[in-house]
Amino acid sequence: MSVRVGVLGASGYTACEAIRLLHRHPSAEVVLATSRAGGGRRVSDAHPSLRGVCDLELVEADPSRICEACDVVFSCLPHGASAAIVRPIADLGVRVVDLSADYRLGDAGVYEAWYGVAHPDPERLGRVPYGLCEFFRDQIRGASIVANPGCYPTAALLATLPLVRSGMLDASSLVIDAKSGISGAGRTLSEATHFVEANERVAAYKIGTHRHTPEIARVLELGGGASGGPAAFVPHLVPMTRGLLATCYGRVGEGVTEEDALVCLQDAYADEPFVRVVEAPSTRHVLHTNFCDVTVRRVGELLVAIGVIDNLGKGASSAAVQNMNAMLGLDETTGL
Ligand SMILES: NC(=O)c1ccc[n+]([C@@H]2O[C@H](COP(=O)([O-])OP(=O)(O)OC[C@H]3O[C@@H](n4cnc5c(N)ncnc54)[C@H](OP(=O)(O)O)[C@@H]3O)[C@@H](O)[C@H]2O)c1
Repeated sequence: MSVRVGVLGASGYTACEAIRLLHRHPSAEVVLATSRAGGGRRVSDAHPSLRGVCDLELVEADPSRICEACDVVFSCLPHGASAAIVRPIADLGVRVVDLSADYRLGDAGVYEAWYGVAHPDPERLGRVPYGLCEFFRDQIRGASIVANPGCYPTAALLATLPLVRSGMLDASSLVIDAKSGISGAGRTLSEATHFVEANERVAAYKIGTHRHTPEIARVLELGGGASGGPAAFVPHLVPMTRGLLATCYGRVGEGVTEEDALVCLQDAYADEPFVRVVEAPSTRHVLHTNFCDVTVRRVGELLVAIGVIDNLGKGASSAAVQNMNAMLGLDETTGL
């Protein structure tokens, strides 16, 4: 029997990728897609690449209709708007993979401080598992909501968490320097994502103030047992459509060699289907996949750990499929 999936915010980039992946998933079927657009528009009008793959009419996000039609919902909405609809859906017993940031933090005060709005579902914060299967799959299995991780945190955490957890890398000294393709900013145009502004340009933005900072800090603590990090997180936009690279610098533990650090990553991911320890990670090698490629070097008194992902793959929609599989007790690689 197929799992009936609803996709909220179906006209956006992560939704397009999720629908494409779910179409070839052997145990899932997209049965409902929402948008505020209405007027008889179809998924394939919003995403011509999905013509013949998904021609569902885009409907308004009505909780009772969604709950009648769906077993699982992928929320591909912006933060704030997401929890506002996820709350009634989850109350009615439908499982949710939330691709927005709404359930990633553990505290409503921290959410409000970083996102500038009151959380629409504060009682659930701290009780929703963080959807990095490699570290939290026991909590994800059987969960009713999963907080799909942010794209920058995914690459940075997969590259560093095993090193932090083993004491080889000091999380409080961690400096994360990360670069993302423009699709990371979503489909809505802004001046920074305008072709003329973004083409032939690399620029840092939200230096030390990006909203993924508290998310990374929380998971370094939850998954790595380390508080006080990262020391800094600096994201950059680069003129590519998709792909994300995080270079993470931190003080090396006493007596730790490069070989020790590499073996630590290799051991941590030996049984993981989607994390590969490689010589030279490149965004090109993970495009359109659910892989995260990682490596680590020792440079003087620093460890330099690198992670690459496709921001719309392991950074969003294929990770969401992996999370759905884990939630439902399916093999995590199904459809991926
Ligand atoms: N892009 C990435 O690489 C990436 C990676 C990880 C996580 N995420 C997160 O995933 C979510 C979706 O990202 P995306 O890149 O797919 O964004 P997107 O391309 O901008 O799509 C979001 C969709 O949500 C709908 N929407 C926008 N504002 C809304 C509102 N106030 N209320 C209800 N619906 C609204 C819009 O559809 P209509 O106008 O048709 O209603 C829009 O197409 C975001 O929370 C984002 O932070 C994105």
